[in-house]
Amino acid sequence: MAPQLQHANESEISLSKTCRTPVLDRGLLARRIEQLGEWFHNLDLHGVKTAPNHFLGDFPAIKWRHIAPEVPDDLSGARVLDIGCNGGFYCIQMKQRGAERVLGIDVDDRYLNQARFAAEQLSLDIEFQKLSVYEVDRIPGQFDFVLFMGVFYHLRYPLYALDKIIQKVSGRLIFQTMIRGSETPREWESNYHFWNKEIFKQQDFPCMYFIEKQYANDPTNWWLPNASAAEAMLRSSGMEVVSHPENETWICTPKHVSRDGRYILDMELDGTL
Ligand SMILES: C[S@@+](CC[C@H](N)C(=O)[O-])C[C@H]1O[C@@H](n2cnc3c(N)ncnc32)[C@H](O)[C@@H]1O
Repeated sequence: MAPQLQHANESEISLSKTCRTPVLDRGLLARRIEQLGEWFHNLDLHGVKTAPNHFLGDFPAIKWRHIAPEVPDDLSGARVLDIGCNGGFYCIQMKQRGAERVLGIDVDDRYLNQARFAAEQLSLDIEFQKLSVYEVDRIPGQFDFVLFMGVFYHLRYPLYALDKIIQKVSGRLIFQTMIRGSETPREWESNYHFWNKEIFKQQDFPCMYFIEKQYANDPTNWWLPNASAAEAMLRSSGMEVVSHPENETWICTPKHVSRDGRYILDMELDGTL
């Protein structure tokens, strides 16, 4: 349920010089930000920060600093899909680079309300929809940039989600996940003998840690890959890694996402893979 927001009286609102969006008085803006619940994204809304005490610091700006140089400065004409958009930080960044269409999806109304409020305050035309990653096939068409950041490890069915997502990527997938265990991605042989048990003792062998109960007090943290597993799963879904700008993030492009015109997911589901 959206929090009830107080209406500002006219003396609390001024019009920005560059656009016709009302800029709220700083105190009122801070109150509205607070009324929208706890924020995970630390946005700067006209000088008011939405999550100034974030446990990861100035998040996700600190992450974006490493990824931003990999994204064109001018995104004119680009279509962007942000899966698990949260408070809209990445949607805002992409729209501010001129993307034609930015669609953010998330399952959590609190975050969607925050994202809508932020976009409105910044006068940015961004679409937000309540939709799960498992429902991306209901979104028509493909996107030049698909962001799938910080969601993978929250899913019980991560590879299923990834196999769905790749169908939406026409250009680049920007993928980020929590990494635990080895942070050194390494490609392995294409086959091993049945009695080779040594590989499973290697720290860098692709591995997903399953969290039965909780990790970091969060019961939605299910599967934590090491770096090799993250890369291997991206490749297995048909993506090619084009860069690895920081230890949790990979930028990929579709390479073998379909076989004989059919997607891997459809082949897996009907047993023909
Ligand atoms: C850790 S936050 C990451 C937010 C943002 N993408 C980022 O990287 O900063 C995880 C987000 O994924 C959303 N989420 C969790 N399960 C989801 C699902 N099945 N479909 C879409 N979003 C989901 C949560 O509501 C939350 O906003």
